[in-house]
Formats: sequence, C-alpha cells, structure tokens
Amino acid sequence: MLATLPRLDNPIQLHDRFGRHINYLRISLTDHCNLRCVYCMPTHGLTFLPNRDLLTAEEIEIVARAAVTAGFHKFRLTGGEPTLRPDLVDIVGRIARTPGVADLAMTTNGIRLTELAKDLKAAGLKRVNVHIDTLHPERLPQVMRWGKLEKLWAGLEAAEAAGLEPIKINCVVTRGYNEEDVVDIARLALDRGWGVRFIELMPLGAGAEAQLSIDRYVSSAETKARIEAALGPLTPIPNRDPSDESRNYLLPGATASIGFISPVSEPYCGTCNRMRLTADGKFHLCLLHDDEVDVKAVLRGGGNQADVEVILARAVALKPTGHALRRGVYTEDRRMYQIGG
Ligand code: 5AD
Ligand code: SF4
Repeated sequence: MLATLPRLDNPIQLHDRFGRHINYLRISLTDHCNLRCVYCMPTHGLTFLPNRDLLTAEEIEIVARAAVTAGFHKFRLTGGEPTLRPDLVDIVGRIARTPGVADLAMTTNGIRLTELAKDLKAAGLKRVNVHIDTLHPERLPQVMRWGKLEKLWAGLEAAEAAGLEPIKINCVVTRGYNEEDVVDIARLALDRGWGVRFIELMPLGAGAEAQLSIDRYVSSAETKARIEAALGPLTPIPNRDPSDESRNYLLPGATASIGFISPVSEPYCGTCNRMRLTADGKFHLCLLHDDEVDVKAVLRGGGNQADVEVILARAVALKPTGHALRRGVYTEDRRMYQIGG
C-alpha cells in the first residue's frame, strides 16, 4: 500500500511554457458508458479497459493530493460515465476531504443520479453538469442511443433536490438530430434556473464518430441565432473567470446563463488552465492532442505523492497549445469517452 503524505502546507503554482497557470484537473473514472451518443461511441466493437488498468480510489486520491500541492484547486470527475464506478461515492469523499480542494464537480448523463445524488452530495460533491441533447422524447434516443427522456429528466430533478447546484446542462448540437431543439433546452434557463451550455461538435479519434462530428457540425453562431429568434436577445455576461471556456449570455428575465462552448469556431487555447487524467492513469495534456505522460507506472512502481508531483510538473511543462481542427488536422489515439471532454 502506498503512503499518502499530507504535503499541503506550501502549494506551489505550475505554469506551462506559454505562461498559462494550470490549476484545474479533470479526472476520468472509467471509459464505460450506459449510453452510446452518436458522436461519441459506436454501438458495437468497443473494447473497454479491464478493471485492473483503472486507477484505484486510493491512487486517484494520491494524484488529487499531489495536484493540490501543485496549486490545483478545481476538480471535475468525468468518464465515460463516472456514475458507473461502483466506488464513486468513496472517490468523491476522498477528494472532497483533501484540504485545498475548492471546487469538486462532475459531468454525467444523469441516469444514475436518482440513486446517487444524495450520497454524492453528502460525500462532498458540489455540483453537476448533466448532458442532455434534446427534450423531445422520440428524438432523444436517436442521438443519445439507449437513453430515455424520463430517466435523464428524473436524474436532473434528483440532482436539484439533493442541492448539487448550480446545475448546468451540456447540450452537444448535432445537425439532423437536435439543432432545432436547442430552443427548448435554452428555455430551461428561464423556467428552471439551470445554466445551459451548447457545445460545438469536436472530431476526436480516427473513428466514424469523428467523421460524423465533422459532417454534422453546427456553429455556435447558428445556435445562438436560433435561440435569439425564438426567445429574444442574448446579452453577454463578462466572463468573471477568464479560463471559463464558455461564452455566457442572459436571456431577458433569466437568472441562469446560456453559454456557448466553441472549440472549432473560436478556440480558447490561450486561456486553458486544464490538465486531464485518463481512467488508465495518464496525464492527457490537451483534449485536441495525443500527448500523454504516464502516472500509473509511477504509482504502481512504488512511487509516492512526491513522485507524482514531479510527474505532474513534467506534464504541465509539456502541455501543448493550439490545434488545427479548422485545417482538418485531428487527433488519432483517444476518443472522447476515454478522456471525458
Ligand atoms: N464533441 C463535443 N462534445 C462532446 N461530448 C462528447 N462527445 C463530444 C464531441 N464529439 C461532450 C458530452 C459530455 C462531455 C464530457 O463531452 O456532452 O457532456
Ligand atoms: Fe456516454 Fe457522454 Fe459519450 Fe454520451 S457523450 S456516450 S453520455 S460518454
């Protein structure tokens, strides 16, 4: 068993070669998912990581502690679908109890929140982003294959009832599937006070899903125009957090914001503050590049928290910037469900 030392007294700050302060860690807990969204996963032919290759709860805690020592204070759990990890509540508790963790959120499709929301809240999870692409009961299972609107909706209500707030909706806009449905989703900001984020499709990995993401791409400008035509003008909210990749607006009379995440039409690499940890224990340096630094090898080779801090500093130092999606240059190795957005 590895010793986890509480080396939290003197947090350092990590800057990369481009002067970006990296302080936000997104942790993928599994590559499994209980849905098969058309732009993310095929229905057949997938191979998933065997359990022995996933970082354990204890290993994840060591990485989180190392990250806090390195000045990280914002954490997010993702997948695949993070609620499929049987030890999710334990993992949340371990990270939430680490002094210096200011924000702990999770991105989920919401299906399992009816069972889990209360326990997650009690363990220290602050808030959730719930992925839902349409409120139309017949169209939802076409884009979020295997999904049922009632189940996703029940999950959202459970999150709200448990106080996992502010709730945010993630909607990936996909031509031919849901580009007209963005108006109903945007209305949730008015009717429910839920934040809404519309995400441009990103082609990741060299599979059919990447090609679909190119073919069915809808720009944020188009989505925004559609919402304004139906619901009125969107007034920009100045970004209080410059590293927020979402450009945020308010509808007349709304308290919750509507945002657009536009990696293709308006890249935001210059303000990126993220590091990603894959479920199999690699620091993935940028969503849109294939570069990785192995941390599991260090953990399983007898390394301790201080060794992980060294690896993390190396990963930050190697972090690339810029991507060439608009010039047709795509990543090849990892798919979205292996990185978690
Ligand atoms: N492009 C953009 N966003 C995607 N997501 C999944 N696949 C894609 C893609 N190809 C989003 C999901 C999820 C988040 C982790 O990433 O909405 O909420
Ligand atoms: Fe699952 Fe999210 Fe991928 Fe959809 S986008 S298949 S919910 S991991």
